[in-house]
Amino acid sequence: MKQFFSLTDFNLKNKTVAVRVDLNLPYNPETGELTENSRLWKHAETIKELVNKKAKIIVLAHQGRKGKSDFISLEKHAELLEKNLDKKIEFLKYGEGFDEIKKLEFGEVLLLDNVRFYDDEIKDKSIEEHANSRLPKKLAPFIDYFVLDAFSVAHRSQASVVGFAVLKPCIAGPVFELELEKLEEFKEKIKSSKTTFILGGAKPEEPLELIENFVGSRSEILTTGVISLLFLTAEGYNLGKTEEFLREKDYLDNLKRINEMHSKDKIKVPVDLAVERHTRPSGASFLQSKKEGVKRVEISLNELPVEERILDIGKKTLENYEKIISGSDVVCMKGPAGVYENKNFESGTKKLFEILKKHKCTLLGGGNTIDALEKFKIPFNNFGYVSLGGGAFVEFLIGKNLPGIKALKLSFTRFKNGR
Ligand code: 3PG
Repeated sequence: MKQFFSLTDFNLKNKTVAVRVDLNLPYNPETGELTENSRLWKHAETIKELVNKKAKIIVLAHQGRKGKSDFISLEKHAELLEKNLDKKIEFLKYGEGFDEIKKLEFGEVLLLDNVRFYDDEIKDKSIEEHANSRLPKKLAPFIDYFVLDAFSVAHRSQASVVGFAVLKPCIAGPVFELELEKLEEFKEKIKSSKTTFILGGAKPEEPLELIENFVGSRSEILTTGVISLLFLTAEGYNLGKTEEFLREKDYLDNLKRINEMHSKDKIKVPVDLAVERHTRPSGASFLQSKKEGVKRVEISLNELPVEERILDIGKKTLENYEKIISGSDVVCMKGPAGVYENKNFESGTKKLFEILKKHKCTLLGGGNTIDALEKFKIPFNNFGYVSLGGGAFVEFLIGKNLPGIKALKLSFTRFKNGR
């Protein structure tokens, strides 16, 4: 039974349509460089579809979080969209009046500045309350329809995600619909098959949620990245310098949660790790330290603690993990295994992708996973499905009710008779 509107339900010709996409891109504050990726490319296709339908298009998106170095204006994003769509993209700075929308022709595109510049955007309010937040309230009188194309923000009850639901008919965009269809499929497969989760990345929160949800099931859980370091610490290993890093980031606060976990013994940890070791050519003195280089060195767990930071998993771990992966029906990977941005420490992540390429049923997700695939130039079609979502991908798989989906359903119920 139909639960929400699709683009094909309406004739959008000569209509004004706001579309919420996800242009949250990797940004280097030192160089000011923004890296385009699949998120931008996929949403650009949706915008193109709306242009072809001869709608007037208002694009809404965010970049970063308040207080972080990647919390910037979307001016550069407009340039990237312009390049990808081969079309002029108008840009409206934060604070400028929406009357500009009236000047736009049908088939033209206007990108609004970072929606998180509105203070009430990220307040965790209900759908009805967000209808009164500044952006939906100000923009709704100018538009006929709202399209939610960004599944990757569907876990956020934020104004630009849910705030239009009771104001205008809200439509699920093609990117959103595809994500939902594929993730639904995988959610069912995971329930009925032997699944291996490979969980890594630089932040423990989302992998921990997945582990807590699946640890009592038939699933195998293989840890990499920061999450593996926390499990090793919980097992009593002293990680040396790396422990300082985990403490600085407040990641050690998760140890209590890990220790209280049932069936913890079912969660696999690495048996070897890679560190960055400084080398001095033999015979060279300290004065010649400029000649010093760095290399990857793999260590076993009984060589711990070490002075150097742990930056990847080792070869023996990969061999162990490969055996487990090959014996599973479904494999789901979230987060890279190490610091893949550094050539010396990319091999854990790269090798896992190679192993997964050979498997018949694979699901990958998360911003850094996508970033790593793109860095290694590994096309997404080597895998069952690659989700553009990070937090949304995790929350959907563990069965949470996502506010974005709730908003689309509510809007459908409210507007289906007046179409
Ligand atoms: C993401 O990068 O997963 C989405 O853009 C959501 O960003 P957020 O976690 O800052 O809400």
